[in-house]
Amino acid sequence: MTRTLAIIKPDAVAAGRAGKILAHLESEGFRMTACRLTRLNRLQAEEFYGVHRERPFFPSLVSFMTSGPVIPLALEAEDAVQRLRKVIGATDPAEALPGTIRALHAESKERNAIHASDSDENAAREIAFFFAEADLFSL
Ligand code: CMP
Repeated sequence: MTRTLAIIKPDAVAAGRAGKILAHLESEGFRMTACRLTRLNRLQAEEFYGVHRERPFFPSLVSFMTSGPVIPLALEAEDAVQRLRKVIGATDPAEALPGTIRALHAESKERNAIHASDSDENAAREIAFFFAEADLFSL
């Protein structure tokens, strides 16, 4: 079993889609090892997305990610990082395969319902960003 981090983003939480997204993740075999409902402040969002700091969409991304509550989830599965990226689909919902979470629930390239870690190294960093080791349950 390996771990990855997902964040159900402010658009999906505000639209009342968090439960459906969680059910989708569970139906794909992911198990929750930690879950919170929280709102990021500007500094936290800038740090979390630091790798995108120079990108033109960065200010708008930070504004969006701080606009309301989010649900970070530490998830466990075999090959969790790659499997989750497949289940959520492409960044732009217009390019996401039918049946993926972004195809079903995302509004746009920015307001795209869910984040997922892109490597095991980033998964470890992103899980530690939201959760202490003592908060993680291995089932
Ligand atoms: P995420 O997987 O969380 O990683 C970075 C986020 O930046 C991405 O999802 C989108 O929400 C956002 N993003 C990436 N590319 C663009 C873009 N071209 N325009 C607007 N937002 C983007």
